[in-house]
Amino acid sequence: MNKFFLNLGKQPLANNYLKSFKQNQIRYNLRLFFNTRNKMVSISKRIPSEKMFTNNYPYRSSMSKTMRNSFYKLSLELKKKFIFKKILEIGSNDGALITNFKKNEVIGVEPCKNLAQITSKKGYLTYNKYWNYELAKKLKKKHGEIDLIYSANTLTHISNLNDVFKSINYLLSDKGVLIIEDPSLLECIKKNSYDQFYNEHIYLFSALAVKNLLSNHKLEIFDIKNLSTHGGSLRYYIKKKKNKNLKNKISVKKQINKEKKFGIHKYKTYKIFSQNVKKSKDSLLKMLRNIKKNGNKVIGYGATAKAVTVVNYCNINKNLISNFIDTTPEKINKYIPGKNIKILKYKNNILKKYDYAFLGAWNFKKEILNKEKKIFKKGLKFLTHIPKPKIIYY
Ligand code: TYD
Repeated sequence: MNKFFLNLGKQPLANNYLKSFKQNQIRYNLRLFFNTRNKMVSISKRIPSEKMFTNNYPYRSSMSKTMRNSFYKLSLELKKKFIFKKILEIGSNDGALITNFKKNEVIGVEPCKNLAQITSKKGYLTYNKYWNYELAKKLKKKHGEIDLIYSANTLTHISNLNDVFKSINYLLSDKGVLIIEDPSLLECIKKNSYDQFYNEHIYLFSALAVKNLLSNHKLEIFDIKNLSTHGGSLRYYIKKKKNKNLKNKISVKKQINKEKKFGIHKYKTYKIFSQNVKKSKDSLLKMLRNIKKNGNKVIGYGATAKAVTVVNYCNINKNLISNFIDTTPEKINKYIPGKNIKILKYKNNILKKYDYAFLGAWNFKKEILNKEKKIFKKGLKFLTHIPKPKIIYY
């Protein structure tokens, strides 16, 4: 049974950066639910994929050094650990992972045309399609069974998870391995990062919920790794249950025990989370209003989908955060969805005009603070809402 626990208000489509601000932009209710039976956390309103994953989708995986490094390290691990003819990546984005492999070793699947074209143009076979059973059938006919399927930050964006795993099971060879990685629900709750929720993130996975889900598809997790990416993610190594060659590692039990100890399986945990989110909103608004009262200016650093949730939920307007900066070409000179806040092109000296930088991309805090060391030393202060609203001084 789905039980409601948090209302994040009316939110615009998170990655729909517009050329001009529209007051009457379409907004959708963002309400969060916990399923007491299978322990899955999800949002209630499902927006058709075609509305979100358009041919001008602005999110690019390779925009940060942290993510490029993470995918590079993973490519080394895959080459070392697994035997495969071909890797299939579901949600290959701009090729941050697949371009670490030889062109004949990988197949990309990417529904956003602008992104699929980036890898196609480089000579990587990329299907500009949504992941579903129909595509799995087509791929099996053309390439045979696949020994290694990988997907990062994608499956949680797909409403019909039963179709997702049925299709994977169909295409994966019996000795094959499926690796998925997504933000960890446990880390999200611990860090109070409610901004992991937006209309694209239909689900937020815990190891417990993934285990329950896979058991309907004769699949099981045999290893889990904790990653620091996206504010704390889990990488799940999955195999067919009938494959006894790969041994189940203790990491799986450990992670599930850790989650249970925290109360991830209890509705009460989510009610507490909900109260903490409301406190976080009040406290962030108080800080921003104080900064303004003292005549200081704030810029948002990283026009992330997460920041869209924050500014819309907290109703932060350009009087509190005057602009955002971002390196992504597709976001520059556009507006933060739902708000009249313009995104400026990142330039070295742009931060000089501001007193505070609000970390929209708080998940890259280390990378950003290091990159901005010089101006940070000179007096720029950072502001973050994770795990609690606070100012970061040099
Ligand atoms: P991410 O946190 O992955 O976003 P989302 O919440 O949308 O999934 O995206 C990081 C964003 O921050 C991306 O738009 C690029 C931007 N960015 C910068 O502009 N400069 C930087 O130094 C870093 C690390 C990120």
